[in-house]
Amino acid sequence: MTETHFNKTYTTMNDIAEPELIFKDQKLVGNNIDKITRQLKDLGDIFSDKEAYAAMDGNTVVYKVESSFPVAHNTEGGLFYGITYLYPGKVGDEYFMTKGHFHSIRNRAEYYCTLEGEGMLLLMDEDGNTRAEKMLPGSIHYIPGNTAHRTANVGDTILSFSAFWPADAGHDYAIISEHGFSKILVEQNGLPVLMNNSSVKLK
Ligand code: 6PG
Ligand code: NI
Repeated sequence: MTETHFNKTYTTMNDIAEPELIFKDQKLVGNNIDKITRQLKDLGDIFSDKEAYAAMDGNTVVYKVESSFPVAHNTEGGLFYGITYLYPGKVGDEYFMTKGHFHSIRNRAEYYCTLEGEGMLLLMDEDGNTRAEKMLPGSIHYIPGNTAHRTANVGDTILSFSAFWPADAGHDYAIISEHGFSKILVEQNGLPVLMNNSSVKLK
């Protein structure tokens, strides 16, 4: 990066580099930032209320992910960093949420740190047991290996969080795309409630 982030000029210390990445004005700034946008039309199989989904505009942006991959994918020992921006909204009573995935190398863990907004992290083990953790600014969440993870925005403003995961973790979306999580997060009387999703049969 060429931008200077200090007011002083260190003329004699040429071995001191500028930071490679900065989170600035609610954006990830640096070289080679990978950007993904997921619209409603990309998320056809994740929401329960198919009728409500069909009535909505498919171009509605549900979330964006900005990531930095300093090493090649599949590099054992490497780490990746990304920020997810999940917009507020619902499909029927179900909150806007991410696709959700297991890591391809199942035992790979991950950290999420909430930056802003109000959300819920859904975690499902390989036996299909689902639990949720509240996400709020500053909350830090350890996602153990062998655990599918998905986030939902339960507030009225954007939910953003940073994630740190092993470069060889990979994403396995197939199981979730086919079966979903065993619980869904819906709004009831203005509050988020975890409900059983009877259609899920993992094993
Ligand atoms: C990862 C992280 C995270 C996640 C996004 C979008 O492993 O890369 O869990 O960056 O990918 O929050 O969620 P989906 O990948 O489930 O769409
Ligand atoms: Ni992940």
